[in-house]
Amino acid sequence: MRPPPTPRHPPRRSADDRPPEPFVEPAGPFDAPTVAAVLPLSTRFTLGPAVTDVQRAFLDRHGFILYTEVASEAEVDTILAEIDGIEEDLLNRGETKVFGVPVWFGLDPDGNDYLFRMGFSSVHSQYLSRFVNDARFEPIRTLIGVNARIGEREKDGVVFNRYVRASTSLRPNLAWHTDALRDVFYNWKMPGPMLNVGLHFDRIKPTDGGLHLVPGTHTQSAWSTLFSKIHFVSDGPDPKELAVETWPGDLTVHDGRMWHRVVASPETGWASLRRSMYVPYVCDAYQPKSETSATPMYMRVFDAIVRSRARSTARAAQREKDRQRRLLKGG
Ligand SMILES: [Fe+2]
Repeated sequence: MRPPPTPRHPPRRSADDRPPEPFVEPAGPFDAPTVAAVLPLSTRFTLGPAVTDVQRAFLDRHGFILYTEVASEAEVDTILAEIDGIEEDLLNRGETKVFGVPVWFGLDPDGNDYLFRMGFSSVHSQYLSRFVNDARFEPIRTLIGVNARIGEREKDGVVFNRYVRASTSLRPNLAWHTDALRDVFYNWKMPGPMLNVGLHFDRIKPTDGGLHLVPGTHTQSAWSTLFSKIHFVSDGPDPKELAVETWPGDLTVHDGRMWHRVVASPETGWASLRRSMYVPYVCDAYQPKSETSATPMYMRVFDAIVRSRARSTARAAQREKDRQRRLLKGG
């Protein structure tokens, strides 16, 4: 067998930093909600042929669940290398959108063009498309809904995120938000479960930032969704928040109705790199996108904000460089 391709920035791995053992279901009859209620929030589960009653009860209770190392080391490396290849291809072709959804490029810590967020990743890679459709994810699909499908060409498709922190980088963090704002705004009531399925590619300790969520808030009221925090603005710590600790290849499912945020890494440069991939499971009518799809309005607004933020950080970095040059000259 050929060895997997090496990504430009392989995840940090170490033999003495292995994840804790996943939870083992007790033998004999038991009440799943009672078992789930006493499990620590940091519990890691195993993705087997079906979602177990305890796993479902844990997700119902807390609004999220983590499956340990669902992708192998070789798969993690291959996916990362595929993304490197897609990035190179998009840059060569000067593409700034895929199916109407902007691709966010910024500068990496070395000052090179770097892809921060891309929708529809799997339409560029047969490997990625095969991977997200693999049979091991069937229990996740049925967890979302019996009629759920993977929307490779719908919504934003398979979204790949790379967060890296440098003076020039785009969005090192993402403040508190829920995915329910739109529904609450238009209907003044909470939508049904909005499960987000994410694959994580880096070793993220609680001190490294990354995905933080407030367990249990997926059942909050419309009022609390609107007023307990300000979407995309509030960014302070919450006494009940949980930092989701990951090892490369972990999979999380979190209910988008809960408060969640991405905390910037305290590191700068490549040590702050964190990558994730979100797979859209869709239940509503089939609405595929294509090269001719228009950019959705909310995307245009968000895109404009991100780009203006990037311009101002680039300007600040330039000012700092000029200042240091002047100081050097003066000295
Ligand atoms: Fe989110």
